[in-house]
Amino acid sequence: LVSITSDSVDTAGDPQPQPTRRASDRTVLMCRPDHFTVSYKINPWMDPKAPTDTAKALAQWQVLYETYLSLGHDVHLIDPLEGLPDMVYSANGGFVLDGKAYGALFTYPERQPEGPAYMDWFRDAGFEVAEPVEVNEGEGDLLLVGDVILAGTGFRTSTRSHEEVARIFDREVVGLTLVDPAFYHLDTAIAVLDPEPVDGRHTIAYLESAFDEASLAVLRERFPDAILVDERDASILGLNSYSDGYNVVIAAAATGFERQLRERGYNPIGVDLSELLLGGGGVKCCTLDLRR
Ligand code: ARG
Repeated sequence: LVSITSDSVDTAGDPQPQPTRRASDRTVLMCRPDHFTVSYKINPWMDPKAPTDTAKALAQWQVLYETYLSLGHDVHLIDPLEGLPDMVYSANGGFVLDGKAYGALFTYPERQPEGPAYMDWFRDAGFEVAEPVEVNEGEGDLLLVGDVILAGTGFRTSTRSHEEVARIFDREVVGLTLVDPAFYHLDTAIAVLDPEPVDGRHTIAYLESAFDEASLAVLRERFPDAILVDERDASILGLNSYSDGYNVVIAAAATGFERQLRERGYNPIGVDLSELLLGGGGVKCCTLDLRR
């Protein structure tokens, strides 16, 4: 087992000095959950028979939106479309880097119309759009860490799309296989904490049990000082968080992760998205990075 305590807590129990964390300016895309509900089941979190409260989803989403504004982030909004209850999870709308937007091609028919809707938004906003040929769910499974793109597969995004992404963005793409249906998107199992390198390195946090052995070996080798989040925090989608390099917006109930972040010099900010959790999404799912 990789030890998380060795570099975060010394024998006397005092935290070791951590590098200075710096907030960076972020530009993101969000979608108001005007039409949010759970009317179909495409992940284990969803239960179409359980009631949902759209007004509550909206109120919780509004807090996330205002949190980003208060942090100084530039938040863009895409119009929600009726009949697309999952459109609030904008992270799945594409993967945007270098002013180029790789469109999403959703696994399940219920979400497929979201792909073109997001691509239209990207075009109108001045991004060059790369239309996908292969199945992928955008930043749900594609996470930028420095110059490398971590790419999830196993439940949604195909390995062929990983090759497509490598070609389109001319970056190294590292494939990671997810094995637990509760953590069906990479952004439910990994949090990228540093948009910019800190002392030449990037910190990530992840849930070990979400990955197969080969992927774990890759993660351990590339990120030896990663934060290992426990099952309890991961099972409320605590990892599904959004960091600007200093401020990390997380699920308020993920108190263990919150403590781990503080030890590493980050500033965790808890929000409650319990209603959106009924659709199987959290903070990061509602947030798409727009990188010019
Ligand atoms: N109900 C949505 C789905 O199953 C939730 C998407 C969550 N998004 C994410 N980036 N993990 O597709």
